[in-house]
Amino acid sequence: MALAPHTDNPYRNPVPCIQILHCIESKVSGGLSTLVDGYTVTEDLKNQYPEFYKILTEVKVRFRFIDKEVILETISPLIELNENKSFKQVRFSPRLDYVPILEKEKLDLYYQARKKISEMYNSDKYRIEFKLEPKDLMMMDNHRLLHGRTAYETKEGERFLQGCYIDYDSTEGKLRHLKRKFNL
Ligand SMILES: [Fe+2]
Repeated sequence: MALAPHTDNPYRNPVPCIQILHCIESKVSGGLSTLVDGYTVTEDLKNQYPEFYKILTEVKVRFRFIDKEVILETISPLIELNENKSFKQVRFSPRLDYVPILEKEKLDLYYQARKKISEMYNSDKYRIEFKLEPKDLMMMDNHRLLHGRTAYETKEGERFLQGCYIDYDSTEGKLRHLKRKFNL
């Protein structure tokens, strides 16, 4: 099955910052990686559907993950802004978001807005697709980008991507160190 564009672990605090996917094996013809820029989509939403943008930045939903050992939970809007109203972060992982009790009119607007942004995230217009080959490693900002994958046939062979997350501060710290080391 294909994996629709999503951000990882929106129920965590903090949400994992930078995601790394390292392709170890890929013997299938499908299984292309997909990326969508959440910043571009939310800017277009702001320009084209300002009411939808507004409600998605205001209504806080509950993101929740439950298993036998833990219940992880965060409450935040789908589009989170900084204090000066600039873009901060998107969260999008349908099935994990629980909408609060709202007045009917507001709830209707919220669902229309959620449907619209979902259509935009899933449209060809914003998506890039590419194939990761063994030894390729992809790094992306999980606060800004959505990622997914096209379908593939498991009978064709193995496909294995090893993933991990790293924080912004340690990554920026390492970058400063490398600049110092190589006099950049
Ligand atoms: Fe994911």
